[in-house]
Amino acid sequence: MKLLITGGAGFIGSNFVRYIIQQHPDWEITNLDKLTYAGNLENLKDVEQSLRYRFIKGDIGDRELVDQLLQQKFDAIINFAAESHVDRSILDASPFLETNICGTQVLLEGAKKYGIKRFIQVSTDEVYGSIELGSFTELSPLHPSSPYSASKAAADLLCLAYHKTYGIAVIITRCSNNFGPYQFPEKFIPLAITNAIEDKPIPVYGDGLNVRDWIFVLDHCRALEATLEKGRAGEVYNIGAGNEMTNLALVHTLLKSLDKPESLIQFVTDRPGHDRRYSLDSSKIRTELGWKPIYSFNDALAFTVNWYLSNRHWWQRIKSGDYAKYYEQVYLKR
Ligand code: NAD
Ligand code: DAU
Repeated sequence: MKLLITGGAGFIGSNFVRYIIQQHPDWEITNLDKLTYAGNLENLKDVEQSLRYRFIKGDIGDRELVDQLLQQKFDAIINFAAESHVDRSILDASPFLETNICGTQVLLEGAKKYGIKRFIQVSTDEVYGSIELGSFTELSPLHPSSPYSASKAAADLLCLAYHKTYGIAVIITRCSNNFGPYQFPEKFIPLAITNAIEDKPIPVYGDGLNVRDWIFVLDHCRALEATLEKGRAGEVYNIGAGNEMTNLALVHTLLKSLDKPESLIQFVTDRPGHDRRYSLDSSKIRTELGWKPIYSFNDALAFTVNWYLSNRHWWQRIKSGDYAKYYEQVYLKR
C-alpha cells in the first residue's frame, strides 16, 4: 500500500509512521508536514533511513503542491495534519480554521480529482462537546466548545459532504486523549511529567475534576490501521480505551511514579469553555472491525514516564525555545 500521511512529524503521526514501517514491510509512506512549532523531524530519526519512507515539507493548504503530489497515485491519505492544542486555539483561532478546515478541503479536492480509494480523517472526541453522564456514540450530535473542536467538527462535516456528494471514500475516526512518547510538552501529561522532573509547579485548571479518557498512542495507531484495512467508507468510528479519570487523579498517579511531592500541584484559573467530561462509546469499532486496546493504562503510563526521563534532550530543547514564550502567555496570566 502506498500511503500519503499528513502531519506525520507531530506526536500521533510520527508514532503512526514508525508503527506502519515496522508492521508492513511492503508499505510505502510519504509524509507531508509543514513543520509548525509542533512538527519535529527528530521524532522520526529512526525511520528516516528507510527506503520506504519519504519526507516532504509543505502545507496541506497548498493546492499546487497537493495536486503535484497526488499525481503519484496513492492508495490512501491519512490526514493527521492539524493545529491541535485547545489553549492555542483560544489565543488565536485563525491557524486552526486555515489548516483544520481549509487544508482538509484541499486534500478532499485532491482525493476527488485523483480518485483516492481511502481517505482517513483523524478527528477527535472533542467534536461532541462535554457529557455529564453516559457516553457519546457516532450518532450523537456535534457540540464543539473551543475554536479547535469547532474547526475539527467543521472538517468532519466537510468530509461527510464530500462522501455524499462526490462518493469520496472518507472514513472519520474520533479518538479520545492520547499519551505516549514524542507528545509535545504543551499537552497535559508531558507537561506534568516534565515539570515534575524539573521540580516546577504543575498547573491544574479549575478544580482539577474535569474527566478525560486516556488511550496509549499505539492503540490509536492500531485502530487507524484497522479502519484503513477494514473500515467502511462514509462511516465514523469512535476510538476509546475506557480509562476515564479526573485530571487531579492523573497528576497524583504521575507524581507518585516520579516520587515527587503533591505540593507541586498548583491550581490555576480554568480554561475558558473547558469541557467537563469526555466519554466515548467505542463498541462500533470493536464489534465491526475487531479492534480493542491492548496496552494497560498503568503500564503504558509508566513506559511514557520512563521515555521522558530517558529523553530529556528532546523536551528540554523544545521547552527552552519559542515554547517558553507561549508558556508565559498562557500560564503567567492565570
Ligand atoms: P500535533 O500538534 O502533535 O501534530 C500536528 C502535526 O501537523 C505537526 O507535525 C505539524 O507540523 C503538522 N501540521 C500542522 N499544520 C499543517 C499544515 N497546514 N500542513 C501540513 N502539516 C501541518 O498533533 P497530534 O496530537 O499528533 O494530533 C494529530 C491529529 O490527531 C490531529 O488532527 C488531532 O486533531 C487528532 N487527535 C489528537 C488527539 C490527541 O490526544 N493528541 C486525540 C484525537 C485526535
Ligand atoms: O480529546 C482529544 C483531544 O485531546 C485532542 O483532540 C486534542 O488535540 C488534544 O490536545 C487533547 O485535548 P485536551 O484539551 O483534552 O488535552 P490537554 O492535554 O490540553 O488537557 C487535558 C486536560 O488537562 C484538560 O481537562 C485540561 C487540563 N489541563 C491541561 C493543561 C495543558 C490542565 O489542568 N493543565 C494544563 O496545564
